[in-house]
Amino acid sequence: MPTRRSFLSATGAAAALALTGTLPGLDAVGIPHRTDKRPLFTLGVASGDPLPDAVVIWTRLAPGPLEPFGGMDDRTVNVEWEVSEDEHFSRVVRRGTAHARPEYAHTVHVDVRGLRSWRHYFYRFRANGQVSPVGRTRTAPAPADQPAVSIAVASCQAYYDGFYTAYQDVVRRDHDVVLFLGDYIYEVGVGPTAGVRNQPVPVDFAGEIFTLDEYRARYALHKTDPDLQAAHAAAPWIVTLDDHEVEGNWAGYISEDGIPYDDFVVRRANGFRAYWEHMPLRLDQSPDGPSIRLHRHLRYGRTAGLSVLDTRQFRDDQTSTGGWLPPDEVSQDPARTITGDAQERWLLDTLHRSSSRWNVVAQQVAMAQLDRKTGPDLELPMDTWNGYVGSRDRVLSGVRDRHVRNFVVLTGDLHRAVASDLRVNFADPSTPAVGTEFVTTSISSGKDGVDSDATGKALLAENPHVKFQSVQRGYLSCRLDSSQWTSEYRVVDRVVTPGGTASTRATLVVEDGRPGTHLV
Ligand SMILES: [Fe+2]
Repeated sequence: MPTRRSFLSATGAAAALALTGTLPGLDAVGIPHRTDKRPLFTLGVASGDPLPDAVVIWTRLAPGPLEPFGGMDDRTVNVEWEVSEDEHFSRVVRRGTAHARPEYAHTVHVDVRGLRSWRHYFYRFRANGQVSPVGRTRTAPAPADQPAVSIAVASCQAYYDGFYTAYQDVVRRDHDVVLFLGDYIYEVGVGPTAGVRNQPVPVDFAGEIFTLDEYRARYALHKTDPDLQAAHAAAPWIVTLDDHEVEGNWAGYISEDGIPYDDFVVRRANGFRAYWEHMPLRLDQSPDGPSIRLHRHLRYGRTAGLSVLDTRQFRDDQTSTGGWLPPDEVSQDPARTITGDAQERWLLDTLHRSSSRWNVVAQQVAMAQLDRKTGPDLELPMDTWNGYVGSRDRVLSGVRDRHVRNFVVLTGDLHRAVASDLRVNFADPSTPAVGTEFVTTSISSGKDGVDSDATGKALLAENPHVKFQSVQRGYLSCRLDSSQWTSEYRVVDRVVTPGGTASTRATLVVEDGRPGTHLV
């Protein structure tokens, strides 16, 4: 990787920029804190939502990431960007100038078009004479191509619970894309030592967050982590949010904390706004007040179709608290929904039309029935599809009736790894599986895990469709080709101190044309 200084060398980018003659001078627009020489690119760079000819590149200017407004003032800043075929920026293929506006917390989202399919590209930004770290990304394959694809799946990175050591392994294993399935931040207070991190954090972070500036500061805190920055700089990310980007266990316009409707609408809007600002998302995903369009479809050639869901914004309220409970009339009510009707129709239509080898759903909460009560009675996690049985029945019977090929659901939220077959009728193990679910564990939430706990043992004993569980921290490393899907559960031995080591705890496969998974 080139150093920041090499951006300014006479060769490559600097020379190319001079040749264009069209870029405004660096001082043409207000420069923040002209006397502030602190680094601007403290939150790294990112890319996301790759298409065969395009990818979004992202950064934010924040000389004081934990200060109000990231240490910026209210002026707009010109940010030059460039995309190159090589890491030395000798073959720059696209460049331009974006505007980092105070209205968007000086974040930059560039939807870079005109790229070639299934290629690595390198990108960087420049503002106020400073050069960002270099990011690497990869476009999606051409629609007719069918390459093998590697996918890392991650979720739940409570800053105060642990270090993001698992991301070092994500980078080391060189994935084509990273899926992040929610709980990028947590909205609850961060103590003065940032929990186990033993790092001083300003007192402004001590409380639960409500305002837009508080949500922005929380993203900044999480994004100061060097392992997270490295993972963003190594591959494009495809993201969706879960509850903690707004409030634990929120549902639709209903606050779990009993916040009045009017106030919760504002809180939801603040959460969505800060989320879009800090993620490498297209303008299509920018929120309109308290509404955001996160469900979307991305393709990896003929290898995989990827349907990203939002199971928070359009869901009915949880039955009771949303904890582990016996099924009741509410959770069994076929009229209730976790996706909303429009998203459910969109998903089933998308799956019906698909010609992909692997039909992947990237979403938040567990779909497979997960009973943790020993004996014939059930106790299920009601914040998941287990509390919305009508939705689950419609989707899984829809998959069966439409003969959806190789249906694979990728899930976060649980802070534990669970691999399951998916059945229309979980009560009858003799019925055929219609798909497979891989729940990834958390990056850090829950601190150091254990290999198995009482819930984990019960999940294996009570649910014949559950093939594997673990409560260690880590992520899911997948490789899919035309004949097989391979999921490796990568776990780290500790997260409450730095320097944990990663290893494969389990490998499971799905064979083409045979729904369901097994350990190898
Ligand atoms: Fe979480």
